[in-house]
Amino acid sequence: MAKAKTIFFCKECGYESAKWMGQCPGCKAWNTFVEEPAEKKTAGRGMGISSMAKGGGRPARIHPSYLDEISVEETDRMGTGFQELDRVLGSGIVAGSLVLVGGDPGIGKSTLLLQVCRNLAQAGKKVLYISGEESLKQIKLRAARIGKVTGDLRFLCETNLELIQEVIEEEQPDVAVIDSIQTMFREEISSAPGSVSQVRESTNLLMLLAKSRGIAIFIVGHVTKEGMVAGPRVLEHMVDTVLYFEGDRSDTYRILRAVKNRFGSTNEIGVFEMEEEGLKEVENPSEFLLSGRPEDASGAAVACLMEGTRPILLEVQALVTATSFGMPRRTAAGTDYNRVNLLMAVLEKRCRYEMSRYDAYVNIAGGLRMNEPALDLAIVMALVSSLKDRSIDPKTVIFGEVGLSGEVRGVSMAEQRVNEAVKLGFETCILPQICLEKLRRTDGIRLIGVRNVREAIDTLK
Ligand code: TYD
Ligand code: MG
Repeated sequence: MAKAKTIFFCKECGYESAKWMGQCPGCKAWNTFVEEPAEKKTAGRGMGISSMAKGGGRPARIHPSYLDEISVEETDRMGTGFQELDRVLGSGIVAGSLVLVGGDPGIGKSTLLLQVCRNLAQAGKKVLYISGEESLKQIKLRAARIGKVTGDLRFLCETNLELIQEVIEEEQPDVAVIDSIQTMFREEISSAPGSVSQVRESTNLLMLLAKSRGIAIFIVGHVTKEGMVAGPRVLEHMVDTVLYFEGDRSDTYRILRAVKNRFGSTNEIGVFEMEEEGLKEVENPSEFLLSGRPEDASGAAVACLMEGTRPILLEVQALVTATSFGMPRRTAAGTDYNRVNLLMAVLEKRCRYEMSRYDAYVNIAGGLRMNEPALDLAIVMALVSSLKDRSIDPKTVIFGEVGLSGEVRGVSMAEQRVNEAVKLGFETCILPQICLEKLRRTDGIRLIGVRNVREAIDTLK
């Protein structure tokens, strides 16, 4: 009997090879090749998006178009009922788009999408939720937690994509959810659900379906410790938008981040909180991140950062203690370790603090990861505050970039940052002098412009 033909795939990037390899030539990852049965390529001519748009079959004549000939309906954005999600998507769902929602198991992807479906149905949209993971009963139990469901929202438990395609084509919903792509399979492909070829071909089918029928499709994708089961990059290339739902499962807040977005910016984040009745938006993340702050503790500074167009206030904590070993220990949680080392070197050289005799631990409270240069000055102030054991006034916000010679450099959008500080009741703001000079608003808050790190440190009481 002839041996069945197999082919090897890289789990990370989908690279194909006839033989197994230790390192993938495509993405240079080690030990990522898996063996799967070889598939016959059936997709031939006339299977593209343009032919599907005309209802299948080969178009009479394929011709390129001028931009003027293409009509776009700009109004085709649907609100999801969550402002946080709308902003991350770029003001709503685009009809005919394919959105991948990735995240660890149990982080709340199904819950989020179910709530989105509910909101869409309430707004009069036709919605189809297809689950390959949970039974209808389980879905009902979950839906009972998030509240009343009205409107045209229907559920289907199915994993066969050919059948799902038939249902979607027949029903023509505005929005469909596929939960999750790892459970879906196509009959013509012999490998198991979740394998690279299944995931790739399934996504392909969904993409054609979305583009040709103008249906917005959300795909859920699980991420394991080593990345998604079938490799995140295989999917990321194919879809229009990639959202990651992150957060600590032991904590209640969740952050939604766009990693790729063909219809909007990738700088925006959405903040949610997981409650008993599903996810709630956190409209003011600053208030949330600053809650439970100890009063008058040394080593704490409030920084103001921009996430896309939105200012976020958060607390930077530093703990500086005399080192008991020859090598001082340094850690940085939530920010760049090398940046912290650099700032300590600046303090040592420019301000004559003997930082090399101290251990230093820097932490961004709330578990966010932030790398904006505007964070520098707050880190420096927190370090010095802890070193001298003098607390920074809790009603003070600090932002500014620190250069290698200890100068404080200007940052963008100073006005928005100051306005956010005023809104949250802060009384003082320490900012780069150059930003202060350009600032139009000066009322409601005491503004202290600083030119270098030394001037900033002199403001400590
Ligand atoms: P789920 O949406 O099933 O996660 P995923 O689809 O990403 O795997 O979320 C499951 C978790 O959320 C589970 O630990 C229970 C919790 N949860 C709540 O806290 N409140 C709720 O209202 C719901 C529906 C779930
Ligand atoms: Mg789920």
